[in-house]
Amino acid sequence: MTLPGVLLLDATGPEAGRLATTAAARGHLVHAATTAAAYADQGPDLKDLLAGQIVADFARPDRALDELAAYARRRRVGAVLTVNEYLTELAARLCAELGVPGNDPGRAQAARDKAAMAEWFTAAGVRAPYTVLVPDDAGLRTALADSRVGFPCVIKPVAGAGSAGVTVVRAPAGVAKAAEAARSVVGMHGSSGGRRGVLVQAYAAGTEYSLESLTQDSVTTHLAVTRKQVTGGTARVETAHSLPTLLPAAVEEDMHRQVEAAIGAAGIRNGASHTEVVVDGDGRCTVIEIGARLAAGHIGLLIQHALGIDVWAALLDTALGRPAQLAPTTCGHATVRFVTSPHTGRLTSLSGFPRTGPGVPYVRWRAQIGGRVTEPSTNAHRLGAFVVTGPDAAEVEERADALLRGIRIRVEPSPETAGQVRPASTSAIAP
Ligand SMILES: Nc1ncnc2c1ncn2[C@@H]1O[C@H](COP(=O)(O)OP(=O)(O)OP(=O)(O)O)[C@@H](O)[C@H]1O
Ligand SMILES: [Mg+2]
Repeated sequence: MTLPGVLLLDATGPEAGRLATTAAARGHLVHAATTAAAYADQGPDLKDLLAGQIVADFARPDRALDELAAYARRRRVGAVLTVNEYLTELAARLCAELGVPGNDPGRAQAARDKAAMAEWFTAAGVRAPYTVLVPDDAGLRTALADSRVGFPCVIKPVAGAGSAGVTVVRAPAGVAKAAEAARSVVGMHGSSGGRRGVLVQAYAAGTEYSLESLTQDSVTTHLAVTRKQVTGGTARVETAHSLPTLLPAAVEEDMHRQVEAAIGAAGIRNGASHTEVVVDGDGRCTVIEIGARLAAGHIGLLIQHALGIDVWAALLDTALGRPAQLAPTTCGHATVRFVTSPHTGRLTSLSGFPRTGPGVPYVRWRAQIGGRVTEPSTNAHRLGAFVVTGPDAAEVEERADALLRGIRIRVEPSPETAGQVRPASTSAIAP
Protein backbone atom coordinates (compact mmCIF):
# COMPACT_ATOMS: atom_id res chain seq x y z
CA MET A 1 0.00 0.00 0.00
CA THR A 2 1.35 3.44 -0.87
CA LEU A 3 1.75 5.69 2.14
CA PRO A 4 0.20 9.15 1.99
CA GLY A 5 2.49 11.98 0.91
CA VAL A 6 3.57 14.62 3.42
CA LEU A 7 3.67 18.33 2.59
CA LEU A 8 5.85 20.65 4.66
CA LEU A 9 5.12 24.36 4.48
CA ASP A 10 8.59 25.94 4.57
CA ALA A 11 11.34 23.37 4.82
CA THR A 12 14.07 25.64 6.19
CA GLY A 13 15.61 25.34 9.67
CA PRO A 14 16.62 22.42 11.87
CA GLU A 15 13.09 21.58 13.07
CA ALA A 16 11.70 21.31 9.54
CA GLY A 17 14.75 19.22 8.61
CA ARG A 18 14.03 16.77 11.43
CA LEU A 19 10.38 16.50 10.40
CA ALA A 20 11.32 15.85 6.78
CA THR A 21 13.90 13.24 7.79
CA THR A 22 11.43 11.47 10.10
CA ALA A 23 8.73 11.32 7.44
CA ALA A 24 11.14 10.13 4.74
CA ALA A 25 12.59 7.46 7.06
CA ARG A 26 9.09 6.12 7.53
CA GLY A 27 8.69 5.75 3.80
CA HIS A 28 6.54 8.81 3.04
CA LEU A 29 7.18 10.90 -0.02
CA VAL A 30 7.98 14.32 1.41
CA HIS A 31 7.11 17.50 -0.46
CA ALA A 32 7.96 21.06 0.46
CA ALA A 33 6.33 24.37 -0.27
CA THR A 34 9.05 27.00 -0.31
CA THR A 35 9.51 30.62 -1.24
CA ALA A 36 11.59 31.31 -4.32
CA ALA A 37 14.42 32.64 -2.12
CA ALA A 38 14.46 29.59 0.15
CA TYR A 39 14.40 27.32 -2.90
CA ALA A 40 17.51 29.03 -4.28
CA ASP A 41 19.31 28.67 -0.91
CA GLN A 42 18.48 25.05 -0.32
CA GLY A 43 21.35 22.68 0.45
CA PRO A 44 21.83 19.34 -1.35
CA ASP A 45 20.82 17.29 1.74
CA LEU A 46 17.28 18.59 1.70
CA LYS A 47 16.99 18.55 -2.10
CA ASP A 48 17.94 14.86 -2.11
CA LEU A 49 15.44 14.02 0.59
CA LEU A 50 12.43 15.71 -0.98
CA ALA A 51 10.22 13.96 -3.51
CA GLY A 52 8.97 17.26 -4.88
CA GLN A 53 8.75 20.96 -4.29
CA ILE A 54 6.42 23.80 -5.09
CA VAL A 55 7.50 27.42 -5.00
CA ALA A 56 4.80 29.38 -3.17
CA ASP A 57 4.21 33.07 -2.53
CA PHE A 58 3.18 32.96 1.13
CA ALA A 59 2.58 36.72 1.11
CA ARG A 60 -0.50 36.00 -1.06
CA PRO A 61 -2.16 33.32 1.07
CA ASP A 62 -5.37 32.94 -0.98
CA ARG A 63 -3.43 32.23 -4.13
CA ALA A 64 -0.92 30.03 -2.27
CA LEU A 65 -3.83 28.04 -0.82
CA ASP A 66 -5.27 27.27 -4.27
CA GLU A 67 -1.90 26.33 -5.73
CA LEU A 68 -0.87 24.20 -2.77
CA ALA A 69 -4.22 22.40 -2.67
CA ALA A 70 -3.94 21.52 -6.36
CA TYR A 71 -0.35 20.33 -5.89
CA ALA A 72 -1.24 18.29 -2.79
CA ARG A 73 -4.16 16.58 -4.50
CA ARG A 74 -1.99 15.56 -7.46
CA ARG A 75 0.67 14.13 -5.11
CA ARG A 76 -1.79 12.30 -2.81
CA VAL A 77 -0.74 14.34 0.21
CA GLY A 78 -2.35 13.06 3.40
CA ALA A 79 -0.58 15.28 5.95
CA VAL A 80 0.31 18.98 6.00
CA LEU A 81 2.79 20.28 8.57
CA THR A 82 4.65 23.45 9.38
CA VAL A 83 6.95 24.60 12.14
CA ASN A 84 6.95 28.14 10.80
CA GLU A 85 5.02 30.49 13.08
CA TYR A 86 3.93 32.64 10.13
CA LEU A 87 2.38 29.76 8.19
CA THR A 88 0.15 28.17 10.81
CA GLU A 89 -2.98 29.89 9.52
CA LEU A 90 -2.30 28.82 5.93
CA ALA A 91 -1.60 25.27 7.17
CA ALA A 92 -4.99 25.16 8.95
CA ARG A 93 -6.78 26.41 5.85
CA LEU A 94 -4.98 23.92 3.62
CA CYS A 95 -5.73 20.99 5.95
CA ALA A 96 -9.42 21.93 5.92
CA GLU A 97 -9.40 22.27 2.13
CA LEU A 98 -7.81 18.83 1.72
CA GLY A 99 -9.85 17.18 4.48
CA VAL A 100 -6.76 16.08 6.44
CA PRO A 101 -6.26 16.50 10.22
CA GLY A 102 -5.49 20.09 11.18
CA ASN A 103 -6.70 23.05 13.19
CA ASP A 104 -9.91 25.06 12.92
CA PRO A 105 -9.35 27.42 9.97
CA GLY A 106 -11.94 29.82 11.37
CA ARG A 107 -9.86 30.33 14.51
CA ALA A 108 -6.33 29.96 13.15
CA GLN A 109 -5.87 33.73 12.89
CA ALA A 110 -6.01 33.85 16.70
CA ALA A 111 -2.59 32.23 16.93
CA ARG A 112 -1.02 34.73 14.52
CA ASP A 113 -2.68 38.06 15.09
CA LYS A 114 -2.28 39.11 18.72
CA ALA A 115 -5.25 41.49 18.56
CA ALA A 116 -7.51 38.61 17.45
CA MET A 117 -5.81 36.40 20.05
CA ALA A 118 -6.74 38.84 22.81
CA GLU A 119 -10.36 38.91 21.63
CA TRP A 120 -10.66 35.12 21.49
CA PHE A 121 -8.92 34.79 24.86
CA THR A 122 -11.39 37.19 26.44
CA ALA A 123 -14.32 35.31 24.92
CA ALA A 124 -12.95 31.98 26.21
CA GLY A 125 -12.20 33.33 29.71
CA VAL A 126 -8.43 32.88 29.39
CA ARG A 127 -6.47 34.91 31.95
CA ALA A 128 -4.39 37.18 29.70
CA PRO A 129 -2.99 40.72 29.88
CA TYR A 130 -5.46 43.47 29.07
CA THR A 131 -4.73 44.36 25.42
CA VAL A 132 -5.69 47.28 23.19
CA LEU A 133 -5.05 47.64 19.46
CA VAL A 134 -4.22 51.29 18.83
CA PRO A 135 -4.33 52.65 15.28
CA ASP A 136 -2.56 55.97 15.91
CA ASP A 137 -1.02 58.33 18.47
CA ALA A 138 -4.39 59.50 19.78
CA GLY A 139 -5.38 55.89 20.41
CA LEU A 140 -2.05 55.34 22.11
CA ARG A 141 -2.65 58.24 24.52
CA THR A 142 -6.13 56.95 25.35
CA ALA A 143 -4.85 53.42 25.96
CA LEU A 144 -2.07 54.61 28.23
CA ALA A 145 -4.49 56.67 30.28
CA ASP A 146 -6.60 53.55 30.89
CA SER A 147 -6.01 52.19 34.41
CA ARG A 148 -6.17 48.62 33.06
CA VAL A 149 -2.87 49.30 31.22
CA GLY A 150 -0.72 51.58 33.42
CA PHE A 151 3.08 51.46 33.71
CA PRO A 152 5.03 49.35 33.14
CA CYS A 153 3.22 48.23 30.02
CA VAL A 154 4.24 46.39 26.89
CA ILE A 155 4.06 47.78 23.35
CA LYS A 156 4.35 45.21 20.58
CA PRO A 157 3.56 44.54 16.92
CA VAL A 158 0.26 42.85 16.11
CA ALA A 159 1.77 39.89 14.32
CA GLY A 160 5.47 39.76 15.14
CA ALA A 161 7.64 36.94 16.40
CA GLY A 162 11.07 36.44 17.89
CA SER A 163 10.51 39.36 20.29
CA ALA A 164 11.18 41.84 17.48
CA GLY A 165 9.69 45.27 18.22
CA VAL A 166 8.46 44.24 21.69
CA THR A 167 9.27 46.81 24.40
CA VAL A 168 8.57 46.89 28.11
CA VAL A 169 7.81 50.56 28.74
CA ARG A 170 8.35 51.82 32.27
CA ALA A 171 7.39 55.49 31.90
CA PRO A 172 5.66 57.83 29.41
CA ALA A 173 9.05 58.98 28.10
CA GLY A 174 9.61 55.57 26.47
CA VAL A 175 6.29 55.35 24.65
CA ALA A 176 7.09 57.08 21.33
CA LYS A 177 10.24 55.04 20.71
CA ALA A 178 8.49 51.79 21.64
CA ALA A 179 5.55 52.51 19.34
CA GLU A 180 7.94 53.30 16.50
CA ALA A 181 9.84 50.04 17.14
CA ALA A 182 6.60 48.04 17.05
CA ARG A 183 5.39 49.79 13.88
CA SER A 184 8.66 49.22 12.08
CA VAL A 185 8.58 45.43 12.40
CA VAL A 186 8.10 43.80 9.05
CA GLY A 187 7.14 40.19 9.67
CA MET A 188 7.75 37.37 7.25
CA HIS A 189 5.40 36.97 4.29
CA GLY A 190 3.54 40.28 4.84
CA SER A 191 2.37 38.93 8.16
CA SER A 192 0.43 41.94 9.43
CA GLY A 193 -2.54 40.69 7.43
CA GLY A 194 -3.42 44.27 6.59
CA ARG A 195 -3.77 45.24 10.27
CA ARG A 196 -2.61 48.73 11.11
CA GLY A 197 -1.47 49.87 14.49
CA VAL A 198 0.33 48.44 17.48
CA LEU A 199 -0.73 46.63 20.62
CA VAL A 200 -0.56 48.11 24.09
CA GLN A 201 -0.70 45.49 26.78
CA ALA A 202 -0.73 45.41 30.57
CA TYR A 203 2.53 44.08 32.00
CA ALA A 204 2.30 40.64 33.60
CA ALA A 205 4.89 40.40 36.37
CA GLY A 206 6.29 37.05 37.42
CA THR A 207 8.31 34.08 36.22
CA GLU A 208 8.18 33.06 32.57
CA TYR A 209 7.44 29.55 31.39
CA SER A 210 6.03 27.91 28.32
CA LEU A 211 3.86 24.84 28.14
CA GLU A 212 4.54 22.48 25.24
CA SER A 213 1.43 20.53 24.24
CA LEU A 214 0.11 18.26 21.56
CA THR A 215 -3.56 18.05 20.68
CA GLN A 216 -5.14 15.16 18.79
CA ASP A 217 -8.84 15.15 17.93
CA SER A 218 -9.19 18.07 20.37
CA VAL A 219 -7.69 16.09 23.27
CA THR A 220 -4.56 17.75 24.65
CA THR A 221 -1.50 16.13 26.20
CA HIS A 222 0.98 18.46 27.91
CA LEU A 223 4.51 17.28 27.25
CA ALA A 224 6.58 19.62 29.41
CA VAL A 225 6.76 22.93 31.21
CA THR A 226 9.77 24.93 30.02
CA ARG A 227 11.44 27.46 32.33
CA LYS A 228 12.94 30.49 30.57
CA GLN A 229 15.75 32.87 31.20
CA VAL A 230 14.99 36.21 29.63
CA THR A 231 17.05 39.40 29.35
CA GLY A 232 15.70 42.13 31.61
CA GLY A 233 15.31 45.75 30.56
CA THR A 234 13.15 47.14 27.83
CA ALA A 235 13.82 44.54 25.13
CA ARG A 236 13.22 40.95 26.21
CA VAL A 237 15.04 38.08 24.55
CA GLU A 238 14.97 34.50 25.79
CA THR A 239 18.52 33.37 26.57
CA ALA A 240 17.84 29.86 27.95
CA HIS A 241 15.13 27.20 28.04
CA SER A 242 15.16 24.29 30.50
CA LEU A 243 12.81 21.36 30.90
CA PRO A 244 10.98 19.57 32.40
CA THR A 245 10.11 22.00 35.18
CA LEU A 246 8.27 20.65 38.19
CA LEU A 247 5.76 23.09 39.65
CA PRO A 248 3.58 22.87 42.75
CA ALA A 249 0.43 20.88 41.86
CA ALA A 250 -1.93 23.85 42.23
CA VAL A 251 0.23 26.04 39.98
CA GLU A 252 0.46 23.33 37.36
CA GLU A 253 -3.28 22.77 37.51
CA ASP A 254 -4.00 26.47 36.98
CA MET A 255 -1.47 26.57 34.13
CA HIS A 256 -3.07 23.57 32.44
CA ARG A 257 -6.55 25.10 32.83
CA GLN A 258 -5.51 28.43 31.32
CA VAL A 259 -3.54 26.85 28.49
CA GLU A 260 -6.32 24.42 27.60
CA ALA A 261 -8.72 27.35 27.35
CA ALA A 262 -6.17 29.14 25.13
CA ILE A 263 -5.78 26.05 22.91
CA GLY A 264 -9.55 25.91 22.49
CA ALA A 265 -9.72 29.65 21.78
CA ALA A 266 -7.10 29.33 19.03
CA GLY A 267 -8.93 26.39 17.44
CA ILE A 268 -6.06 23.95 17.91
CA ARG A 269 -7.55 20.51 17.23
CA ASN A 270 -4.72 18.51 15.68
CA GLY A 271 -1.21 19.74 16.22
CA ALA A 272 1.40 21.08 18.57
CA SER A 273 1.13 24.27 20.57
CA HIS A 274 3.58 26.42 22.47
CA THR A 275 1.96 28.64 25.06
CA GLU A 276 3.98 31.34 26.82
CA VAL A 277 2.85 32.18 30.32
CA VAL A 278 3.84 34.20 33.36
CA VAL A 279 3.26 32.86 36.87
CA ASP A 280 2.93 35.55 39.53
CA GLY A 281 3.94 35.39 43.19
CA ASP A 282 0.56 33.87 44.13
CA GLY A 283 0.99 31.06 41.59
CA ARG A 284 -1.57 32.51 39.17
CA CYS A 285 -0.85 31.89 35.51
CA THR A 286 -1.36 34.56 32.83
CA VAL A 287 -1.15 33.59 29.15
CA ILE A 288 1.10 35.94 27.14
CA GLU A 289 0.62 34.22 23.80
CA ILE A 290 -0.01 30.93 22.04
CA GLY A 291 1.64 29.54 18.90
CA ALA A 292 -0.10 26.79 16.91
CA ARG A 293 3.15 24.98 16.33
CA LEU A 294 6.01 23.21 18.01
CA ALA A 295 8.14 25.56 20.10
CA ALA A 296 11.20 26.99 18.41
CA GLY A 297 14.53 27.51 20.18
CA HIS A 298 15.42 23.78 20.12
CA ILE A 299 12.69 22.94 22.64
CA GLY A 300 11.70 19.91 20.54
CA LEU A 301 15.22 18.60 20.90
CA LEU A 302 15.13 19.21 24.65
CA ILE A 303 11.91 17.19 24.95
CA GLN A 304 13.47 14.40 22.95
CA HIS A 305 16.60 14.24 25.11
CA ALA A 306 15.02 14.83 28.52
CA LEU A 307 11.86 12.76 28.11
CA GLY A 308 12.60 10.38 25.26
CA ILE A 309 9.51 11.53 23.33
CA ASP A 310 10.06 11.64 19.57
CA VAL A 311 8.26 14.90 18.90
CA TRP A 312 8.86 14.72 15.15
CA ALA A 313 7.22 11.30 14.94
CA ALA A 314 4.40 12.56 17.18
CA LEU A 315 3.79 15.58 14.93
CA LEU A 316 3.75 13.38 11.88
CA ASP A 317 1.32 10.90 13.46
CA THR A 318 -0.94 13.75 14.53
CA ALA A 319 -0.95 15.22 11.03
CA LEU A 320 -1.77 11.79 9.59
CA GLY A 321 -4.57 11.23 12.13
CA ARG A 322 -2.80 8.35 13.88
CA PRO A 323 -2.34 8.02 17.66
CA ALA A 324 0.97 9.58 18.69
CA GLN A 325 3.33 8.06 21.25
CA LEU A 326 3.54 10.74 23.91
CA ALA A 327 4.51 8.88 27.08
CA PRO A 328 7.98 9.78 28.37
CA THR A 329 10.48 6.94 28.09
CA THR A 330 13.24 8.61 30.13
CA CYS A 331 13.20 11.16 32.94
CA GLY A 332 16.20 13.38 32.45
CA HIS A 333 16.72 17.10 32.07
CA ALA A 334 17.79 19.28 29.15
CA THR A 335 18.64 22.92 28.63
CA VAL A 336 19.65 25.19 25.78
CA ARG A 337 21.78 28.28 26.28
CA PHE A 338 21.82 31.04 23.68
CA VAL A 339 24.96 33.09 23.29
CA THR A 340 24.46 36.82 22.90
CA SER A 341 26.82 39.74 22.47
CA PRO A 342 27.44 41.97 25.48
CA HIS A 343 27.44 45.00 23.20
CA THR A 344 27.15 46.21 19.64
CA GLY A 345 30.15 46.11 17.34
CA ARG A 346 32.23 43.82 15.16
CA LEU A 347 32.89 40.27 16.29
CA THR A 348 36.64 39.76 16.06
CA SER A 349 37.23 36.47 17.86
CA LEU A 350 35.55 33.50 19.49
CA SER A 351 37.03 30.77 21.66
CA GLY A 352 35.80 28.12 24.06
CA PHE A 353 32.55 27.40 22.22
CA PRO A 354 31.44 23.88 23.28
CA ARG A 355 31.71 20.90 20.97
CA THR A 356 29.22 18.08 20.75
CA GLY A 357 30.02 15.09 22.97
CA PRO A 358 28.55 13.19 25.90
CA GLY A 359 25.82 15.33 27.46
CA VAL A 360 26.18 18.00 24.74
CA PRO A 361 24.13 16.65 21.82
CA TYR A 362 23.82 19.85 19.82
CA VAL A 363 25.84 23.01 19.20
CA ARG A 364 25.33 25.69 16.61
CA TRP A 365 27.36 28.82 16.01
CA ARG A 366 25.87 31.12 13.44
CA ALA A 367 27.63 34.51 13.74
CA GLN A 368 30.51 35.27 11.42
CA ILE A 369 33.88 36.43 12.63
CA GLY A 370 34.25 39.96 11.27
CA GLY A 371 30.48 40.42 11.12
CA ARG A 372 28.39 42.95 12.99
CA VAL A 373 26.78 41.86 16.24
CA THR A 374 24.41 43.75 18.47
CA GLU A 375 23.18 43.71 22.01
CA PRO A 376 20.18 41.38 21.74
CA SER A 377 16.76 42.87 21.14
CA THR A 378 15.34 40.00 19.06
CA ASN A 379 16.01 36.28 18.79
CA ALA A 380 17.75 36.98 15.49
CA HIS A 381 20.59 38.59 17.45
CA ARG A 382 21.58 35.31 19.09
CA LEU A 383 25.08 34.30 18.01
CA GLY A 384 24.90 30.61 18.77
CA ALA A 385 23.34 27.93 20.94
CA PHE A 386 24.23 24.70 22.67
CA VAL A 387 22.20 22.00 24.39
CA VAL A 388 23.19 20.17 27.57
CA THR A 389 21.36 17.10 28.84
CA GLY A 390 21.72 14.58 31.65
CA PRO A 391 19.84 12.76 34.39
CA ASP A 392 20.08 15.45 37.07
CA ALA A 393 18.56 18.92 36.65
CA ALA A 394 20.98 20.79 38.93
CA GLU A 395 24.04 19.18 37.34
CA VAL A 396 22.81 19.94 33.83
CA GLU A 397 22.21 23.59 34.70
CA GLU A 398 25.61 23.92 36.40
CA ARG A 399 27.36 22.37 33.42
CA ALA A 400 25.54 24.64 30.98
CA ASP A 401 26.49 27.70 33.03
CA ALA A 402 30.11 26.56 33.23
CA LEU A 403 30.24 26.02 29.45
CA LEU A 404 28.74 29.46 28.90
CA ARG A 405 31.32 31.07 31.18
CA GLY A 406 34.07 29.35 29.21
CA ILE A 407 33.09 31.06 25.95
CA ARG A 408 35.11 34.15 25.13
CA ILE A 409 34.15 36.55 22.41
CA ARG A 410 35.81 39.82 21.50
CA VAL A 411 33.61 42.55 20.12
CA GLU A 412 35.13 45.80 18.90
CA PRO A 413 32.93 48.84 18.57
CA SER A 414 32.14 49.46 14.91
CA PRO A 415 32.64 53.04 13.62
CA GLU A 416 28.94 53.87 13.75
CA THR A 417 28.62 52.77 17.37
CA ALA A 418 31.99 53.96 18.67
CA GLY A 419 31.46 56.26 21.60
CA GLN A 420 28.07 54.72 22.38
CA VAL A 421 29.35 51.45 23.73
CA ARG A 422 31.88 50.27 26.22
CA PRO A 423 35.43 49.81 24.90
CA ALA A 424 36.31 46.53 23.24
CA SER A 425 37.08 43.82 25.68
CA THR A 426 37.34 40.11 25.91
CA SER A 427 34.07 39.46 27.59
CA ALA A 428 32.23 36.61 29.14
CA ILE A 429 28.86 36.23 27.45
CA ALA A 430 25.97 37.94 29.12
CA PRO A 431 23.87 35.18 30.72
N1 LIG B 1 2.20 41.46 28.62
C1 LIG B 1 3.45 41.12 28.95
N2 LIG B 1 3.85 41.12 30.25
C2 LIG B 1 5.11 40.82 30.60
N3 LIG B 1 6.08 40.51 29.72
C3 LIG B 1 5.73 40.48 28.40
C4 LIG B 1 4.42 40.77 27.96
N4 LIG B 1 4.38 40.67 26.62
C5 LIG B 1 5.62 40.32 26.25
N5 LIG B 1 6.44 40.21 27.31
C6 LIG B 1 7.88 39.86 27.29
O1 LIG B 1 8.38 40.06 25.97
C7 LIG B 1 8.74 38.81 25.37
C8 LIG B 1 8.36 38.81 23.91
O2 LIG B 1 6.95 39.05 23.80
P1 LIG B 1 6.03 38.18 22.86
O3 LIG B 1 6.19 36.75 23.24
O4 LIG B 1 4.68 38.74 22.86
O5 LIG B 1 6.72 38.46 21.45
P2 LIG B 1 7.06 37.48 20.26
O6 LIG B 1 7.60 38.35 19.18
O7 LIG B 1 5.90 36.61 19.99
O8 LIG B 1 8.25 36.63 20.86
P3 LIG B 1 8.65 35.11 20.60
O9 LIG B 1 8.35 34.78 19.19
O10 LIG B 1 10.12 35.12 20.95
O11 LIG B 1 7.86 34.32 21.59
C9 LIG B 1 8.04 37.76 26.20
O12 LIG B 1 8.73 36.52 26.16
C10 LIG B 1 8.09 38.39 27.59
O13 LIG B 1 9.40 38.27 28.14
MG1 LIG C 1 6.57 35.09 22.62
